[in-house]
Amino acid sequence: MTVPARRSEATRGAGSPVLAIDRVRVAYPDGPDTRVILDDVDLSVTAGELVVLTGPSGAGKSTLLTVAGLLRRPDSGEVTVAGTPTAGLSQRQRTKVRRDHVAFVYQSANLLPSLTAIEQLELVGHIHGEKASGTTARARSLLERVDLAGRADQLPVELSGGERQRVGIARALMASPSLLIADEPTASLDPERAGAVVELISEVTRSEGLATIVVAHDAWAEMHVDRRLHLDRGRLSEVGPPAGAAAQRA
Ligand SMILES: Nc1ncnc2c1ncn2[C@@H]1O[C@H](COP(=O)(O)OP(=O)(O)OP(=O)(O)O)[C@@H](O)[C@H]1O
Ligand SMILES: [Mg+2]
Repeated sequence: MTVPARRSEATRGAGSPVLAIDRVRVAYPDGPDTRVILDDVDLSVTAGELVVLTGPSGAGKSTLLTVAGLLRRPDSGEVTVAGTPTAGLSQRQRTKVRRDHVAFVYQSANLLPSLTAIEQLELVGHIHGEKASGTTARARSLLERVDLAGRADQLPVELSGGERQRVGIARALMASPSLLIADEPTASLDPERAGAVVELISEVTRSEGLATIVVAHDAWAEMHVDRRLHLDRGRLSEVGPPAGAAAQRA
């Protein structure tokens, strides 16, 4: 099933990067010194591509995601999202690009406790100014997509951790993003549920033509990943594909 998309085809051009990070630098003051977290980092992710980012704690993985998702301005360098270079944009313009193109998934789904599963999704539609009838239809089809059609009227407290995380992913898709940014989306799940979330993110990346970056650990080791990157001491490096990924493609 294909979820109806609002974004223009122009942002989904085959092969053109949805995210392009060019010579991005982020440094924090560290006593009298400066600690460089991202040292002229380059990264480009195209539509339908799933990139997994690993690295030691404190390496700057979350920082890189917040820069990519336009939540933080780098000290220098350019971040281009869906064809729009953002370095010269005002805060308001950056917020618009983010709203139109970027969705986030975190370790916890951060659902609103008083809203049912479907209402969590409908809220996103309302924020984006959609008509109520269209919003409900999209929300239903997305809940079906994450295999939660029968749980649409449950409150978060009535859902398992894995189900909540799937609602969070459906909610992220509700805004028809071009770029999906997930910071340790499986960290709080047991291996079985983590595996299901990995599968889901991988599947929607392809079916929706998303550019997806995931910061992750074990559950992703052998999964459907296009590229694995490692961040350490401010530098990104490519990691060879795991044996499992090669076998899947063969
Ligand atoms: N606003 C800030 N001011 C100063 N230092 C910061 C700030 N935000 C992050 N840092 C530091 O930058 C470094 C990178 O943080 P970041 O959260 O990006 O790491 P990470 O790779 O995501 O780590 P983890 O795997 O533990 O989540 C850390 O040392 C952190 O303390
Ligand atoms: Mg982090």
